[in-house]
Amino acid sequence: MLRSAVTGVGGYLPTEEVTNDDLAKIVDTSDAWIIERTGIRRRYRAPEGVGTSDLAVEAARKALDAAGRTAAEVDLIIVATTTPDLTFPAVAAMVQRKLGAPVGIAFDVQAVCSGFVYALAVADGFVARGTAKCALVIGAETMTRLMDWTDRGTCVLFGDGAGAVVLEPMEGQGTLDDRGILGFSLRADGTKQDLLYVDGGPSTTGTVGKLRMHGNQVFRHAVVNISEAITSAAKTAGVEIADIDWFVPHQANQRILEGVARRVGIDENRVISTVSDHANTSAASIPLAWAQGVSDGRIKPGQLLLVEAMGGGLTWGAAVIRL
Ligand code: UT7
Repeated sequence: MLRSAVTGVGGYLPTEEVTNDDLAKIVDTSDAWIIERTGIRRRYRAPEGVGTSDLAVEAARKALDAAGRTAAEVDLIIVATTTPDLTFPAVAAMVQRKLGAPVGIAFDVQAVCSGFVYALAVADGFVARGTAKCALVIGAETMTRLMDWTDRGTCVLFGDGAGAVVLEPMEGQGTLDDRGILGFSLRADGTKQDLLYVDGGPSTTGTVGKLRMHGNQVFRHAVVNISEAITSAAKTAGVEIADIDWFVPHQANQRILEGVARRVGIDENRVISTVSDHANTSAASIPLAWAQGVSDGRIKPGQLLLVEAMGGGLTWGAAVIRL
């Protein structure tokens, strides 16, 4: 059977670093509060004139290099984003143009912080059917553009960035030793929209809007929902939690990461956490953390990875991948 194997990963952070102390100058907060409640120490902001597609292109180039592929070989681009450069065209089409990739399939997936997990699952449908031979799956966000800089409950939490993976079809035996996406689980519950949303859009206000969140309610849902999705994805893949080498969670809050790991029985030494340095980069957070784990030598070929996320919608999901 054909599997979708991840052959390269890359991450990119914009240059402008924003510390907790920087934010304490504009809202009533403190470095100590932010670290204690979230684990975040810094985040990065894309400078004016740099859009989501620019971050996506940087991450995509690194992932292609790591895979030993060139833009000329890319036939599918999926960008998970909730902060497109323009309402349309899709960021994926802009990335195609900026990379100089040939005419192929390119579109965006909008599932907010869960976008990367959703996009992986969508790409798997193309790659494991043999429709795409060299797919780029990118999570890219400029979340700082959606911040209300007077709301201390949200503006300290988010940052900008991008991460990308290259997926290629690979023949497998249908066993757990196969390289590729072994299983996933996706969920959405639209009745929880009011917990986390942006208060503007093309068909309502005609504006971009600002992010609004009932943080503590989202927090409560996160640990329960994500844990359930992990259990379900592991079951679909046929793996035990004990088999997982690395848990690469969505980087929203260190307390959520730890809560989920405890609940599903993942040892803290197997968790890749970048929340302190990246903050919540929405759909970019998983591939950014993944790229970090690869570049510092922790994540190695052949290992079993578990990724998960939850975000606005509410949406959530998890996937199990053999590298
Ligand atoms: O990507 C997926 C979506 N997002 C998430 O997963 C985020 C989920 N939620 C969270 O991470 C946490 O709920 C927060 C970090 C947002 C907040 O932490 P919390 O422990 O749930 O705090 P809280 O919202 O219950 O607020 C406690 C207090 C409040 O003050 P009062 O009402 O008790 O006087 C807030 O006004 O903390 C206050 N507060 C702050 N204080 C200093 C809220 N934000 C700040 C801040 N600095 N930045």
